[in-house]
Amino acid sequence: MKTFTKNPPKWGADEILNELDAFKNLYEHRPIKENIHGMRFQHMLATYFILKKLNPSYVIESGVFRGQSTWLIENTLPNSKILSIDINLNQREYISKKVKYSNIDFKYQDFSNIPEDTLVFLDDHVNHYERLQQAKFFNIKNIILEDNYLPDKGDFYTLNHVISNSGFNHNYTKLSLLKTFFVFSKELIKKLFSKKYYIACEKIKFRLRDYPTNENDFKNIEKNIKTYFEFPNLSNVLSNKLELSKDELNSYNHLTYIELY
Ligand SMILES: C[S@@+](CC[C@H](N)C(=O)[O-])C[C@H]1O[C@@H](n2cnc3c(N)ncnc32)[C@H](O)[C@@H]1O
Repeated sequence: MKTFTKNPPKWGADEILNELDAFKNLYEHRPIKENIHGMRFQHMLATYFILKKLNPSYVIESGVFRGQSTWLIENTLPNSKILSIDINLNQREYISKKVKYSNIDFKYQDFSNIPEDTLVFLDDHVNHYERLQQAKFFNIKNIILEDNYLPDKGDFYTLNHVISNSGFNHNYTKLSLLKTFFVFSKELIKKLFSKKYYIACEKIKFRLRDYPTNENDFKNIEKNIKTYFEFPNLSNVLSNKLELSKDELNSYNHLTYIELY
């Protein structure tokens, strides 16, 4: 597997661990105690650390789910403005009074007038290559990729897939393919009966995540990246310091901070 790093900030394990006590106090008050399929201890610590370091005045979150990450961003940066996006906001268990919510995809938002130091936190499992193109278009420079799965792992095309030129082959179940066929057919039938109907292309695309290898992707991305930093896996160190379940401690998918030119 190809590894990549570029101008990483000098954020060593010691400095990260210095924040541990403060973070632990916050973490104990998290609204979702067992956040299965969502953020767990290490990624929350990483996000807390990066947000504290950068202190952006505006944070866009894409991928809210039950709301754990929204709560984390809000409590780490009490003075920042937050926009939280999820195409399905009905899953929220924690709902903030302070945050602005939207169910409109990141790429369709109005970002014509956002601060220079805006940061986007991406945890929506949408193709990283496309998300980085969109961030570049909006002139958003600071990006946290919550999941940056290695080749043969994950459920969408990540930046680590781009770096390794592995493409992404989604391992669909028969049931999932059947569901995709059903969604696709339903849309075509609606169009057949109403010429004015707009096919829900996004809905179909969301179900089709295969991405063939393309060595040009890395070259195009590389020239736009100023900083690339994968947060280290601290599970060994943390296991001696904390009483956490194995699931909580070992959940780690290469959370990555990027700064674009
Ligand atoms: C892994 S979960 C997010 C976990 C969450 N950040 C947490 O703290 O636990 C992924 C979420 O992305 C949402 N999602 C899927 N496609 C999306 C899109 N295009 N834009 C925004 N959210 C999307 C899903 O509905 C789901 O709630």
